[in-house]
Amino acid sequence: MSFWKISEKKDNFEVFAQVEVLGDDLLVVLWGGTSPHIGAIGMAQPRTSLKDPKTISATSSAFTFLGHKEDVVAKAMSEELARKLNRKVVVVAGMHWKGLQDEGIEEVIGICQRLKDRILEGDTEIMKRIIVGVTGASGVIYGIRLLEVLKDLKMETHLILTEPAKQNILLETTFTVEDVEGLAYKIHNIKDLAAPISSGSFKTNGMVIAPCTIKTLSGVAHSYSENLLIRAADVTLKERRRLILVVRETPLHKGHLELMNRVADLGGIILPPVPAFYHSPRRIEDLIDHTIGKILDLMKIDHSLYKRWEG
Ligand SMILES: Cc1cc2nc3c(=O)[nH]c(=O)nc-3n(C[C@H](O)[C@H](O)[C@H](O)COP(=O)(O)O)c2cc1C
Repeated sequence: MSFWKISEKKDNFEVFAQVEVLGDDLLVVLWGGTSPHIGAIGMAQPRTSLKDPKTISATSSAFTFLGHKEDVVAKAMSEELARKLNRKVVVVAGMHWKGLQDEGIEEVIGICQRLKDRILEGDTEIMKRIIVGVTGASGVIYGIRLLEVLKDLKMETHLILTEPAKQNILLETTFTVEDVEGLAYKIHNIKDLAAPISSGSFKTNGMVIAPCTIKTLSGVAHSYSENLLIRAADVTLKERRRLILVVRETPLHKGHLELMNRVADLGGIILPPVPAFYHSPRRIEDLIDHTIGKILDLMKIDHSLYKRWEG
């Protein structure tokens, strides 16, 4: 069980949120003002959307104690969190300020919305939004395994596949392109330079390109944003967010090394899929999971994909 406490303030109003992850479920306790209490409870459950079965929607209900009005906040917050995090969510809300007028109520609702946005934006690290790029280097299985693990962890993944990546998925694995796309929260067309991830104002916790070809490495090193994958990587760098490149090629000439050097200078992390043997790998999957574990470590995501070296 993990929990975080965050708060938001505006004028005379401050609201606190305690956010607890209980297995797959989420509990949010909201309070603020002069008399702590429980005013209302909102609860919501994610479900397949009736309009579009490929998307998640949520059904919510509220219970309100007599004379209290926090049901508005509790119900809306639980519903949006359940839909976006794909978890059951309960929001317990109790806020009271003496003589609160309509204007104050609006401000408090706005504060609660900001708290909800912060929960979704990863301030509490419940859910991270990660862009995953898969290119046509050998080892597309690294990208696939990363997507599987992030899906299990209920992270919001935004996937971009290059055309050569699609060919290598068929060449090197038993997955179809549709299988791989099915692992992502959202798929983006590589030609769609107007996608949200093309802009820095779309907040993310970073991007991983796994595997990364020398061609894409070169595009990133030179900000040659001819496709959405390279543009998203360039945005990740300019916003000073984590960018991890699982560069796969061997042997390497000086030009390749210079490209890696350039990306490292720009703040990117070069993480070639180099196996380690201290965790006694027995299967190819163990070697793959070791690299995925290294990526998750850098993204500050807890995992137990490999046994750590403890001396
Ligand atoms: C089976 C196969 C394996 C490849 N492996 C690599 C590789 O490990 N590293 C690399 O830089 N390019 C590799 N390539 C070449 C890239 O696919 C090629 O340069 C392509 O244009 C990269 O485009 P992309 O970066 O947009 O995916 C491979 C190609 C094939 C068909």
